[in-house]
Amino acid sequence: MPNKNVIFCDPKLLEKDLSGKTYVVTGANSGVGFETTQQLVKQGAHVVMACRRVDAGKEVAQGFSIYKGSYEIMRCDLADLQSVRDFVEEFLSKHKKLDGLACNAGMVNMENTPKYTKDGFEITMAASFYGHFLLTELLLETLKNTTNSRMLILSSVAHAGSKKKRYQLHFEDLEWKTRKYNNFDAYSEAKVASILYAKELADRLKDTSVTTYSVHPGWARSNFGGGGNPFVKVMMTLAKPIFTMLNFSDSSWESAQTSLHCLLSEDAPKHSGKYFSQHSVLYNDKECKKGGWPMQTPNPHADDMNDAHKIVNVTRGLVGLN
Ligand SMILES: NC(=O)c1ccc[n+]([C@@H]2O[C@H](COP(=O)([O-])OP(=O)(O)OC[C@H]3O[C@@H](n4cnc5c(N)ncnc54)[C@H](OP(=O)(O)O)[C@@H]3O)[C@@H](O)[C@H]2O)c1
Repeated sequence: MPNKNVIFCDPKLLEKDLSGKTYVVTGANSGVGFETTQQLVKQGAHVVMACRRVDAGKEVAQGFSIYKGSYEIMRCDLADLQSVRDFVEEFLSKHKKLDGLACNAGMVNMENTPKYTKDGFEITMAASFYGHFLLTELLLETLKNTTNSRMLILSSVAHAGSKKKRYQLHFEDLEWKTRKYNNFDAYSEAKVASILYAKELADRLKDTSVTTYSVHPGWARSNFGGGGNPFVKVMMTLAKPIFTMLNFSDSSWESAQTSLHCLLSEDAPKHSGKYFSQHSVLYNDKECKKGGWPMQTPNPHADDMNDAHKIVNVTRGLVGLN
């Protein structure tokens, strides 16, 4: 029985022949990224699975041989700028076009003290945002050279916060060096940055055929927060009845619907730069709970074009693109 709270992709889109198309999906070995990848391969596309753990990618892709599409796995640790650069070099040595870039990977630091990457960045922001920023910017020419290509980046309902506490970017301390660290706040801020980036990029690319999207996938009973940890898998399974009771969408397949819509539908490009969201009881704002393709974020800071330009300029410097 389809979950009545989930906005499903038009089934016709999932029958479209994608032969000849090339996609990159980050975090393709797990959860939403895995389901997105599998569907694209089923439909005949070639998917480059950008995985932090190549072995985990190989393991989940074993079943793909029955589909008409193809895949390859390339290592990409988004929390390591050199690894992102190496990934792009390898990708460009093999591919001349890119029909869709799904910046899907994400993580939350499970500890309440900041962890820093070897580049000196707070890890949540690095893995969810800076790494995807560098990846996208380095692949931009290829996206531009491919007709009607698309870029999406996963955000989260968490970015919205509440009426009392709207998340915003703290440009004075993006790396949590002087503020008291809170891992959920760090995650939410990274997701604000992701929404702003999709908006800025859409604006920058408005004279091209590239379109961009940010996505809240809904609750996915994935390995989120686990990084392959079996304990997290068990906890996610045990949590199923609670989330069913709360009417959340509970599977990664359901949560991949929004990404697939943004990558495949003919309607999505009419809304380049917008935020696409599944239903979520976690929206503090009643009118947003049912989600929407696209929908207006309830958080004005995630809609602020000054902040969008600012985070792009600041990040260019941080990742060494100036
Ligand atoms: N699950 C939810 O309810 C939910 C809700 C809102 C938004 N989201 C967002 O949806 C996206 C997908 O999450 P999911 O639910 O599918 O979680 P998941 O099953 O944990 O998948 C996350 C993926 O991101 C990868 N990843 C983490 N750190 C990385 C890094 N440094 N470099 C490269 N890849 C990295 C993971 O790789 P490893 O397996 O190697 O760790 C994994 O493949 C995330 O951006 C998340 O923030 C999820």
